[in-house]
Amino acid sequence: MIVDILIKNASELVTVRDTRRSAKTKGDMEDLGIIRNGALAIEGKDIVAIGETNKILTTITRAKTVIDATDSIVLPGFVDCHTHLVFGGSREDEFIQKIEGKSYLEILQRNGGILSTVEKTREDLASPRVLMNRAQTFLDKMLTFGTTTAEIKTGYGLSTQSELDLLNIIARLKESQPIDLVSTFLGAHAVPKEYENRKADYIRLVLDMLERAKTEGLAEYCDVFVEEGAFSPLEARTILKQAKKQGLKLKLHAGEFNDMGGVELGAELGATSIDHLDYISERGMELMAQKKTIGVLLPGVPFHLMTNKYAPARKLIEAGVPIALATDFNPGSCPTLSMQMIIALACRQMKLTPAEAISAATINAAYALDRGDKTGSIEVGKRADIIVLNIPRHQQLPYWFAMNLVAKVIKNGVIIY
Ligand code: NIG
Ligand code: FE
Repeated sequence: MIVDILIKNASELVTVRDTRRSAKTKGDMEDLGIIRNGALAIEGKDIVAIGETNKILTTITRAKTVIDATDSIVLPGFVDCHTHLVFGGSREDEFIQKIEGKSYLEILQRNGGILSTVEKTREDLASPRVLMNRAQTFLDKMLTFGTTTAEIKTGYGLSTQSELDLLNIIARLKESQPIDLVSTFLGAHAVPKEYENRKADYIRLVLDMLERAKTEGLAEYCDVFVEEGAFSPLEARTILKQAKKQGLKLKLHAGEFNDMGGVELGAELGATSIDHLDYISERGMELMAQKKTIGVLLPGVPFHLMTNKYAPARKLIEAGVPIALATDFNPGSCPTLSMQMIIALACRQMKLTPAEAISAATINAAYALDRGDKTGSIEVGKRADIIVLNIPRHQQLPYWFAMNLVAKVIKNGVIIY
């Protein structure tokens, strides 16, 4: 057989083995399905063979491109299942205030935080090209760090037109660059200044925006920021129920700073994932495990905000909650595009093992975007979203930190980095 790309001699071919066709839980997260001295073959966009190098070489006689992965590991591309990647400006001054001891919610209450990014984003939307190019640059960088699928939320427009503009930018980015993108409508990210003290009116506006987003087919998920100073579970319920009626899938930001009951709401409404979970009750964990709701953990946030309050990952795993990892890339609570850094933090601060963190950043994150059937593991029939890392064992992935270990990125069967 002649194939397009053959990768051979990988010290570890980390397949992540998706045996159950759902997000991994408990002990399964440790099962990376490693093939030593592994090889893999790609035809077009798809993986067509995996196995030990000497066995694969008996059937694959020629390849247009051969990659020798000696002393390297091969992994599925990372899936960054929670980002706010389209925004204007940056917030390093607020970061300095945090160093001096101000809290995220304090800054938000004084019209800083999310609202200052809303102001900057609205300004930039006057020429959407600017925002589009900026997002494009972020995605280019993201790819070099090994991410091949990502979610992007709106939420820095907060008016009908600007939220639709953001959704349109995401739609155009889907066409203009190689990372597969999933779009989420987050009109309920904060109450904009012009609706101060008129929250009920803003929620009505969000319902209108949802209608428009739906008719224009621009969003796959609807998310709500459930938090003090943002939206209550009751307010979130109205928005999410309407979204569900319109056929959107659901996500929630819950438990970032307080346990407000967002977890119970998300589990009840059948959300695909509930994200953050730095604050979560035992009951909340039980409900998520029962409903198989994926918990998306974002350790870059407590790291950047210096709160030192990380999601109880070990307890979540023990309770049977499927967990995924993501960056939460945004200018306020986590300005990094590196899933490698997130894995490094997850191991150090939440005590995930390297294998669990890899499962969480690949297959489980793919399921958190309903893309587990296509990507997130290295299997015959799945899409060839593959990264080659310059390390001989997967245990070294979280060990070397804040360095880019990615040597090659293959997306949809094309070597792009
Ligand atoms: O996930 N919590 C709400 N949204 C983001 C932060 C957004 C911002 O600060 O600009 C988050 O942490
Ligand atoms: Fe977020």
